[in-house]
Amino acid sequence: MDLQLEGKRVLVTGASKGIGLAVVRAFLAEGATVVATARRSTPELAATDAVFVPADLSTPDGPATLVETVLAQNPQLDVLVNNAGGGDRPEGMFEDPFSGDDDTWATVFALNLNAAVRTTRAALPALTKARGSVVNISSSSARDPHTAPLPYAAAKAALNAFTRGLAEATGRSGVRINAVTPGATRTDLLAGPDGLAAGIAEHMGVDHATFLAGLPEQFGMLTGDLIDPSEIARAVVLLSSPAMPSAIGSNWTVHAGQMKTA
Ligand SMILES: NC(=O)c1ccc[n+]([C@@H]2O[C@H](COP(=O)([O-])OP(=O)(O)OC[C@H]3O[C@@H](n4cnc5c(N)ncnc54)[C@H](OP(=O)(O)O)[C@@H]3O)[C@@H](O)[C@H]2O)c1
Repeated sequence: MDLQLEGKRVLVTGASKGIGLAVVRAFLAEGATVVATARRSTPELAATDAVFVPADLSTPDGPATLVETVLAQNPQLDVLVNNAGGGDRPEGMFEDPFSGDDDTWATVFALNLNAAVRTTRAALPALTKARGSVVNISSSSARDPHTAPLPYAAAKAALNAFTRGLAEATGRSGVRINAVTPGATRTDLLAGPDGLAAGIAEHMGVDHATFLAGLPEQFGMLTGDLIDPSEIARAVVLLSSPAMPSAIGSNWTVHAGQMKTA
């Protein structure tokens, strides 16, 4: 299948590892040029052909400065993937459903919602010129909010509303806005030594490795395994492709049966 991404220029946020790194590799494999951003690069990202531009997207000016730098290097931008997300877990999240004070909520919203809003706003003129597309990375916790800290789930639910609403506003000018909703995916955010699973295991007083091994079953994942980031990346690449002109305002879930609603 020709996804018509050869020669397209793509900006991927949160690209140094996990899902973002898989997205970078998937676009490069399609012949696209990729600009990758995170606060710091990694040896794995440096080993790809992506151009790295550092940015802290949870700051108010970080996203606009990033886009300015990217467009100064080359004014062409065809695809934006707003993938940066997650961040630190709120202190006391297992005991307190409010999961911290106002500052905690603001920090989580800054990365998981505002970063996507600000980056998209800055990139929209270039994307409009290219009749391009945006893919936002949401989370199953937006629709199943007991599976994650509440500020994170709420921010991702807001990202879903932003995705659908903006798609309506930009669809006629040719810019397609979509989301991909991953279920539990094997990255540092979930499965790493400081990841969510480690935090839950510690809270429950069980061994991390044992807890992690039982996680797919506990989450009701019918494959019995966490999702590989490359699978999420394939959904992102397909949604972003000009070969999918009717994919507007979609939110594709990839969750191995974890989400039990229709
Ligand atoms: N893994 C899962 O199970 C899962 C499930 C549902 C949704 N998701 C979503 O998928 C996306 C990717 O998650 P992941 O699991 O791949 O996480 P990850 O492995 O922790 O990677 C997160 C990426 O975001 C970057 N990042 C973090 N804070 C940033 C900031 N302030 N400014 C710029 N970049 C920042 C990180 O690099 P630096 O730290 O160097 O900045 C890294 O490149 C997130 O939006 C997450 O919410 C993940």
